[in-house]
Amino acid sequence: MAYFFASLFVRNPEFRAMFPLAMGGQRRRVFDALARCVWGADEPESLSDYLRQLARDHRRYGVLDQHYRAFCDTLLGALQAFGGQGWSERAGVAWRALLGHAATVMAEAAREASGEPAWWVGEVAGHDRRGPDVAVLTLRTEPAAGFRYRSGQYLDVQVPRWPRVWRSYSIANAPRPDGTIDLHVRAIPGGRVSSALVGQTGVGDAVLIGPARGQMTAASASSGTVLCVAGGTGLAPLRAIAEELASPARAPEPPQVRLLVAARDERDLYDLAGLDELAADRPALKITPVVPGSRGNEHGQGVLAAMARHLPAGPADVFVCGPPGMVSAALRLAAEQAPHLRVHADAPGSWRDGRRAAPCQPPGSGPACRA
Ligand SMILES: Cc1cc2nc3c(=O)[nH]c(=O)nc-3n(C[C@H](O)[C@H](O)[C@H](O)COP(=O)(O)OP(=O)(O)OC[C@H]3O[C@@H](n4cnc5c(N)ncnc54)[C@H](O)[C@@H]3O)c2cc1C
Ligand code: HEM
Repeated sequence: MAYFFASLFVRNPEFRAMFPLAMGGQRRRVFDALARCVWGADEPESLSDYLRQLARDHRRYGVLDQHYRAFCDTLLGALQAFGGQGWSERAGVAWRALLGHAATVMAEAAREASGEPAWWVGEVAGHDRRGPDVAVLTLRTEPAAGFRYRSGQYLDVQVPRWPRVWRSYSIANAPRPDGTIDLHVRAIPGGRVSSALVGQTGVGDAVLIGPARGQMTAASASSGTVLCVAGGTGLAPLRAIAEELASPARAPEPPQVRLLVAARDERDLYDLAGLDELAADRPALKITPVVPGSRGNEHGQGVLAAMARHLPAGPADVFVCGPPGMVSAALRLAAEQAPHLRVHADAPGSWRDGRRAAPCQPPGSGPACRA
């Protein structure tokens, strides 16, 4: 991938300015995307959905449809240069067909989306430090200019301090009439965007936001019982889902929703007061804080023990979001102890990598997510 990007920039110097200075993660992500194209070639519909979404996302990088051909031609050259004995005329034909298809689908999807904004401005209307490394930001968005989302989705944010660096953050509230959204951000040590959002952003500042994304939404719940298991700032999307599902306005009646909020210690329960306020208006919503070894909540239990205790016996939807280790373990627990449940989760690992990782395994052997 290093060779590929070097050749791309030598042949098309104007492309370099579209990318952030540090390219490390980018190489891996494009490699994963290629692997996904290879494994997905036998499922053209889902490959096409993936490429179309990728192309819509590429609009905010300033990518134009004529760029795709140059990108794919350079990729073909890199594959040939490094294919070694694995490269043959047949392999060349197959790669040319696959990359030509990817370029065509992406360029077409970008053209179709050209009427929609690629990004919007979000004005910081509130900035609430909830601890040394966590802040809740309220952004004023532009619903009138087409910004929309569903409870549980995330969006990408760019801060002025780090041009061209986009990071995903989940929206922590159900849609409001005034179009404001809350983000829960934890500053990662050395993290560019998270540290800027927590430590160097204030009311009146502006950030850029991309379109809302993600399939884990309130609309995917269909049962009368819902269990949400949140770890850290994984609380954000589940708070939005719980807020919408447990709303008293929901007809014919809201499902019973329990939200387990796991934290490392009491201080890390950064949104307890807000959650209590939410539950006060929603009799169908129960909030259960889980802090290992602490009093006043699920005594001394880890999140998995608390989850096991609250796994519904009948039909139910379970939403899980948080650190990758917690998500994988929660998915395993649900699969072993309650295979009848409908489980919804982000792909394990995606938060750690900063971007949603495309699975690079053959279909069927990927992360154990069921939706
Ligand atoms: C779909 C999705 C939704 C997300 N929602 C939220 C959210 O609601 N709130 C939130 O705070 N974060 C969320 N994240 C994580 C967020 O996108 C960033 O990855 C995170 O803020 C770090 O970005 P950065 O630019 O500060 O760090 P970078 O500058 O990218 O990284 C700096 C260093 O930290 C390491 N690192 C990167 N990410 C993490 C991490 N998550 N944990 C530990 N180390 C890391 C990197 O390997 C690197 O060494 C979400 C991620 C995804 C994919
Ligand atoms: C087959 C065609 C392509 C594929 C499969 C592809 C794949 C990807 C992937 C997977 C990402 C990471 C995106 C994310 O996780 O949100 C990405 C980012 C990006 N791509 Fe592409 N891409 C293609 C074409 C192009 C073209 C033609 C350009 C323009 C020259 C381009 C420029 C970028 C830029 C600027 C980024 C953002 C980099 C960053 O933020 O680190 N891509 N691409």
